[in-house]
Amino acid sequence: MRYTHLLLAAGISLPALSASAQTVQMTVQPGDPKLIVSKHIQGQFAEHLGRNIYGGFWVDKDLNVPKKGRIRMDIVEALQKIHVPNLRWPGGCFADTYHWHDGVGPTAQRPKMLNLWWGNTLEDNSFGTHEFLELCDMLGTEPYLAANVGSGTVEEMSNWMEYLNSNEDTPMVQERKKNGHAEPYKVSWWGIGNESWGCGGNMTPDYYTDVYKRYATFAHDYPGTQLKKIVSGANGDDANWTEVCMKKIPRNMMWGLTLHYYTLPTGSWSGSKGAATGFDEQQYFNTLRNGLKMDDIVTRHAAIMDKYDKEKRVALLVDEWGIWTDVEPGTNPGFLYQQNTLRDALLAGTTLNIFNNHCDRVRGANLAQAVNVLQALVLTDKEKMLLTPTYHVFDLYQVHQDAQYMPLEFKSPDYVMGNEKIPALNASASKDKNGAVHISLVNLDTKKTINLETALPGVSWKNVSGRILTSNSVSDYNTFEKPNNLKLAEFKGAKKKGGNLAVALPPKSVVVLELK
Ligand code: AHR
Repeated sequence: MRYTHLLLAAGISLPALSASAQTVQMTVQPGDPKLIVSKHIQGQFAEHLGRNIYGGFWVDKDLNVPKKGRIRMDIVEALQKIHVPNLRWPGGCFADTYHWHDGVGPTAQRPKMLNLWWGNTLEDNSFGTHEFLELCDMLGTEPYLAANVGSGTVEEMSNWMEYLNSNEDTPMVQERKKNGHAEPYKVSWWGIGNESWGCGGNMTPDYYTDVYKRYATFAHDYPGTQLKKIVSGANGDDANWTEVCMKKIPRNMMWGLTLHYYTLPTGSWSGSKGAATGFDEQQYFNTLRNGLKMDDIVTRHAAIMDKYDKEKRVALLVDEWGIWTDVEPGTNPGFLYQQNTLRDALLAGTTLNIFNNHCDRVRGANLAQAVNVLQALVLTDKEKMLLTPTYHVFDLYQVHQDAQYMPLEFKSPDYVMGNEKIPALNASASKDKNGAVHISLVNLDTKKTINLETALPGVSWKNVSGRILTSNSVSDYNTFEKPNNLKLAEFKGAKKKGGNLAVALPPKSVVVLELK
């Protein structure tokens, strides 16, 4: 563990702080100029699940909203503003049931399919590979495809790659051209299976690594596109899965290895996971305590990867994360539709800080999920659309994309609830290509302000500005009637004091500062 706040996040106690507990001394270190916070940490996830694709991104032609074809443009415009770096599709569990060839060619001739994982809905395959890649093009985002390993074949996956990436005169390429795309799409990000320990086939890690190697052998690079082959990784803290994958799969066969961890308010998959709204402070505390485990989980998997890959060539991608609550009362339980509060925004800021602080290994992550599912960025109700508090956090944090990492040193005060405590403060910092320094700060305490006195050795700066997300209660959220209940505001609590930065960080807030 490199930094004090990480020690605290991992539940390791530090000596009790004095009465002036809410004053924190922080140092922003210059860091290693070569260590970059990958923009891909801010990736998103669009599974065929509930109203994420059908009724989300892809709407009925009669719906009275701005559209390009059937792609909903108010969502596209909102996501363009936060510069989504990559978009994972078509799943999730759905990916291991998806047959891509059913989703290309004239729409009327595409066969229908049952979405067996999510609500047994009948999908008409009108949203397929070309539509997804058109969406990515509009968003200016890197497509991240998940190949069907669980119920597909090696041939099916390798045909998909040839269809998308080759430019030779083969039947696959001829078909792509006939379907309207003359040039290769050059899709380089490929997940080989999803949750292969569970919905992707209930495999053991030994069995999966053999299957992976077989699939990866037939995942060809076509001229102009070098594939990033991604191993389906562990469930939460399953260290053995990572150990076996790292031991058995040669480095040149894997660009990345994934990890999935969801934050459940109750911490349990059986029974209630906890409500999305209307929770009390104890439930809020428990949620953040469970969310902070991400730091420990990433640390453990990264340490195993270090054992086999000292040069850190293999990326760790947390390609599913976020809060998973009970669904909104009255909605289809298979659709995973949940509201999104300030609590979720604080969790998002905290998690992105954890990833930033592990940027030497974590080089990608995908929030689950983009629209109308789990910790969504966007919720829709027919023509209506709202941006969630979580969306605003991604808006704030985009300044870290591909910026140089700057390590922080500080001791967080405790946020105490009954007999338990968690660190109240978490943070990360980076320097962008123009030399501006950005510090993202999260105060999880619901009542106490944190006063920061921050030194920035080696940084020359004149002005500080910032934006904040907060609200009266951690259970506040945006509704279709009041979509701007929670929105970003200018932050005036930071100033230059001598050569240092003084910040009064309000309770239950996410703040991002810019120094230049
Ligand atoms: O994000 C919802 C589901 O959670 C995904 O389909 C699956 O990969 C995970 O279990």
